[in-house]
Amino acid sequence: MANRISRRLVLNAGLALALLAVTAGWLVTKTIANSKTNGPEDPTLNVVLKNRRAIQPRLNRLPAVSVFQQAVQTEPAVEQAQKNIKVLTGLPESQLLPVMNFISTSLGVKCDHCHVNKNNNWDFPSDEKPEKQTAREMIKMVQSINKTTFRANITVGCYTCHRGHTSPMGIPQLPVPEPTPRVENATPGAAAKEALPTIDQILAKYAGALGGSVAIDKLKSRSMKGTWLTSNGITLGYKVCQSAPDKIYTVLNTPHQGAFESGFNGAIGWEKSARGVRDLKGEQLAYLRRYPDLFKDIKLKEQFARMDVARRDQIDGRDVYVVRASTADNWREQLFFDAQTGLLVRRISYLPTMVGVIPEEIDFEDYRDVDGMKLPFTIRISAIDPFFSSTRKFTEIKLNVPVDDSKFNKPPAPTATPPKP
Ligand code: HEC
Ligand code: HEC
Repeated sequence: MANRISRRLVLNAGLALALLAVTAGWLVTKTIANSKTNGPEDPTLNVVLKNRRAIQPRLNRLPAVSVFQQAVQTEPAVEQAQKNIKVLTGLPESQLLPVMNFISTSLGVKCDHCHVNKNNNWDFPSDEKPEKQTAREMIKMVQSINKTTFRANITVGCYTCHRGHTSPMGIPQLPVPEPTPRVENATPGAAAKEALPTIDQILAKYAGALGGSVAIDKLKSRSMKGTWLTSNGITLGYKVCQSAPDKIYTVLNTPHQGAFESGFNGAIGWEKSARGVRDLKGEQLAYLRRYPDLFKDIKLKEQFARMDVARRDQIDGRDVYVVRASTADNWREQLFFDAQTGLLVRRISYLPTMVGVIPEEIDFEDYRDVDGMKLPFTIRISAIDPFFSSTRKFTEIKLNVPVDDSKFNKPPAPTATPPKP
């Protein structure tokens, strides 16, 4: 039964493909092609959902949060789109799959732990499995704990107790280890008193390390060439071309399915693959438009309503300053700056959902000089699901090279290719 959710998933696959700039979407098509032969652990779902979910947490990291908010406000709540929603009412529809993935990851199970799959057909609305009912009780419990004890903050989630297991450990195992005594500072408050730089100092040092405000202001376009390494070890050719303020063209070259291109010319978003050319509309376009921002990792201050320096820490043996940032809508992030070089080395974003907070981490490595600026040549994305995680390694980055604007336009549909029988 090609039911509604399967169609949605296929639709999401299309969406993922559209987001070549952010996702190895080709995997989706590949697995969909294979999925007919697969059982309850249908990778189609996982892959699609993984992509889908991984896209979500990024949203709060981007300057155009308001665009996302609009998308959320205008999209239907999940109960309007699905058949049997009793406790997740009011959840934005686009968060259903991220939430289901988060629940699965929290318990260390796959979808079929709670959902019925008969002869390769998913019946997600069915309440046949008792685990689904238990999960409903748990969702209600989490909602109530957060509301009553944590002043409506998403403090407790499925992962808080489950930590990747179906039955959380509630009783200490014997023998219990001797508790380590609390180390008191010789001079109380010494650590706290260690002077941290101010947020303005950190941001100014970052701007300087990148090449200075003149170089940043001069930045008009960027083209990058390199590879996209998926977590299962497949390397794809990858090219991105961006032009201020928001034009983008990307192409991922896959070994067996040819090129996946996508673009946005300031007005029209599109994608092109062996299957043809199509427009990106609504939610999909809103997603695509979030990535073109040339300045996403460069102009940070503009993206947040609040930023403060939380502490000094270490990443790979190097001292870093940790900055906590949040938008006016309370989307949160942590930013890590190398204490010595001043460069941004990590961003972790947090997507708050009804059942817990979904993290995503981006690491910036291998900074090199490019046309008067310093830019990372390796960008690593780690999502809670390793399948989505990927590494982009650039071999060439060029700034301010004149770009032919027609590149960003939707290409004409291929006319003479008859569909394969
Ligand atoms: C631990 C149990 C559990 C797991 C694992 C789980 N779900 Fe769910 N799922 C639920 C519950 C509970 C609901 C109903 C929520 C409600 O009533 O508001 C639901 C609802 C859904 C719905 C909406 C069905 C409808 O029409 O009402 C879809 C679609 C769905 N899940 C997909 C998935 C997918 C895909 C996965 C695997 C990534 C998954 N779920 C994993 C418990 C689970
Ligand atoms: C406060 C701790 C806590 C939180 C938070 C929590 N759970 Fe549980 N959950 C438990 C405990 C404890 C059990 C085991 C109960 C038992 O053994 O009878 C359990 C059992 C379950 C089970 C049944 C286990 C099985 O074998 O399938 C499901 C399903 C489940 N939880 C889903 C969830 C979901 C989904 C969330 C998040 C919305 C969640 N839980 C959040 C404590 C928690």
